[in-house]
Amino acid sequence: MIDTSMGNYQVAFQRSMSDPNGFWGEIAELVTWEKKPTIILDDSKAPLYRWFSDGELNTCYNMLDRHVIAGRADQPAVIHESAITGKSSMLTYAQMLEKVAKFAGVLRMSGVVKGDRVVIYMPMVPEALIAMLACARLGAVHSVVFGGFAPAELAARIDDAKPKVIVSASCGLEPNRIIEYKPMLDESIRLATHKPDRCIILQREQHVVELGELDIDWNTAMSMAEPTECVTVKATDPLYILYTSGTTGKPKGIVRDNGGHAVALTWSMKNVYNIEAGDVWWSASDVGWVVGHSYIVYAPLLAGATTIVFEGKPVGTPDAGTFWRVIEKYGVNGMFTAPTAIRAIRKEDSNGEFIKSADLSKFETLFLAGERLDPDTYEWATEHLGVPVVDNWWQTETGWPIASNLRGLEPMPIKAGSPTVAIPGYEIKVLDETGKPVPPGTEGNIAISLPLPPGTLPTLWGDDQRYIDSYLTVFPGNYATGDGGFIDADGYVHILGRTDDVINVAGHRLSTGSLESVVATHSLVAECAVIGVADEIKGQVPKAFVVLKSGSEIDPEVLQAEIVALVRRDVGPVAALRDVVIVPGLPKTRSGKVLRKTMRGIADGKNVDVPSTIEDASILDILRPLLRG
Ligand code: COA
Ligand code: AMP
Repeated sequence: MIDTSMGNYQVAFQRSMSDPNGFWGEIAELVTWEKKPTIILDDSKAPLYRWFSDGELNTCYNMLDRHVIAGRADQPAVIHESAITGKSSMLTYAQMLEKVAKFAGVLRMSGVVKGDRVVIYMPMVPEALIAMLACARLGAVHSVVFGGFAPAELAARIDDAKPKVIVSASCGLEPNRIIEYKPMLDESIRLATHKPDRCIILQREQHVVELGELDIDWNTAMSMAEPTECVTVKATDPLYILYTSGTTGKPKGIVRDNGGHAVALTWSMKNVYNIEAGDVWWSASDVGWVVGHSYIVYAPLLAGATTIVFEGKPVGTPDAGTFWRVIEKYGVNGMFTAPTAIRAIRKEDSNGEFIKSADLSKFETLFLAGERLDPDTYEWATEHLGVPVVDNWWQTETGWPIASNLRGLEPMPIKAGSPTVAIPGYEIKVLDETGKPVPPGTEGNIAISLPLPPGTLPTLWGDDQRYIDSYLTVFPGNYATGDGGFIDADGYVHILGRTDDVINVAGHRLSTGSLESVVATHSLVAECAVIGVADEIKGQVPKAFVVLKSGSEIDPEVLQAEIVALVRRDVGPVAALRDVVIVPGLPKTRSGKVLRKTMRGIADGKNVDVPSTIEDASILDILRPLLRG
């Protein structure tokens, strides 16, 4: 059982449940407020809860100005390390503040005021962080879009967020090629109904582009701008929108507020990750994902730590020793990445030779999240690194961990396959289909009691009803996570995977619905289903099962190449769809609904009962080997 002698964890957890106002009210003292909140939990519009609703602050002030005033001006704030160009650079807190204040001036000069949206479509360069923080400084709302998405996906986000300005770069760098961002940006603006007033383009020396009428060069704009002070915002004002895949094709605009986010993330840095001011922290993700937002950008700078911004891959360029050399070079204390990165390294360096040759004496903990940490990967990393390997479970929606081993608050024994326990503020439950709690050890749907703690999503951008319908109505009184799993007899949480049509490819979240809508546009496809199937490195990859229109004939390899190209064009290379199989039919109910859950179960190797509603069970005999193959 979890320690019942009321260690730090139990005390904090119990208090967060019995006295959320007292618990979060005290933690709110970690943040510098312009106006201290007197209301902690605001339930006046339940089930839409708000935190610190009469408080006022500026998130950028808490990340930069505050630390400069406190004597951290010369401490490195952001270190940029590019394994692709072989170059590195550093910005102190004072330098970061100067650049962010200047770029806020650029945005202001471009007409951006509090509440306006700014889309950021950039590679892993310090300017991406500068743009994000400049928005926070002005009270503008940023929406960062991952560079691996195609123009159509960017256009959908532009139309939803309606940005006044877009900040982008001439190119991104992948190990094998230069990604030309500018033509993709231009195409997305052409596709979108909403048009921005201006695009600010960072020219990278690897690929300099010609600027168009809407565009202004980053450096030119910076040379013209005046530094800008922080604009005070309400705790409940939006800080950013981050789009994530839902079960349907239309991405969900997850909203993050300013106050709850600053409080929760600051607390998490010490209590979950055991990182304090002056420590060196590295989150090897991308600013386009929630891990990037929270743990490359916001939390480490809120905490006064040094954050590493890494451009590159764990393997290949130059080799599987990259991660360990970066840890050695900067004396990294804690690192965060996705299990898929460790699986990729293990494949290249199974005996951990690169690890042995690096000095990891300052390295204390490896944190992994974004997808299930399989016990094999956990064991390998633990054995070779000789530090705790800590799984933490969360989602774009929550913005920070729901379950983890809390390394700063009270480290606990680690169990392979489990992200340990619920973080204070999150009451995790496992429910059956009718919403009844299941006994320990029994698998079910994972839900969290309302209200969710500070830092989690208050709503979806411009769509309270979609938020309520998607998350709050399945199990009334609870937030439905979309994940399945169980809590064992010791109180440890185990996450087994999604219960819906969301898949996780190399730690990247994708909607099979949006992939299906693209596959279905192929002229010979009558219908299709896309399922996530197991992959040795990426955890899951999408596989498309297509039924051809009657009378159509095509070489399966040609069809596959055409569909792969369609998905790369319309969703982006990040979708990693490579496998397309022609099938005579799909398993359906008599009313015509495709039995995706049955297909998923078979693909996962489960013993699946054939649903009584199935129209023709014989199709499953044909699909079974293809789903498992
Ligand atoms: N801009 C443009 N294209 C991008 C991109 C970006 N920012 N990021 C990835 N892509 C492209 C890649 O070049 C690749 O294209 P390809 O099919 O032409 O090779 C495709 O999208 C898939 O990328 P990725 O999923 O990164 O696969 P990979 O084979 O290049 O690398 C891993 C595999 C495991 C090494 C890599 O996914 C990884 O390091 N993941 C772990 C860290 C992580 O980012 N986690 C995210 C959440 S914590
Ligand atoms: P994202 O919103 O992209 O962060 O993806 C969130 C989803 O990733 C969750 O709903 C889970 O399905 C999965 N996930 C994230 N972290 C973990 C973890 N530690 N263990 C298992 N699944 C995880």
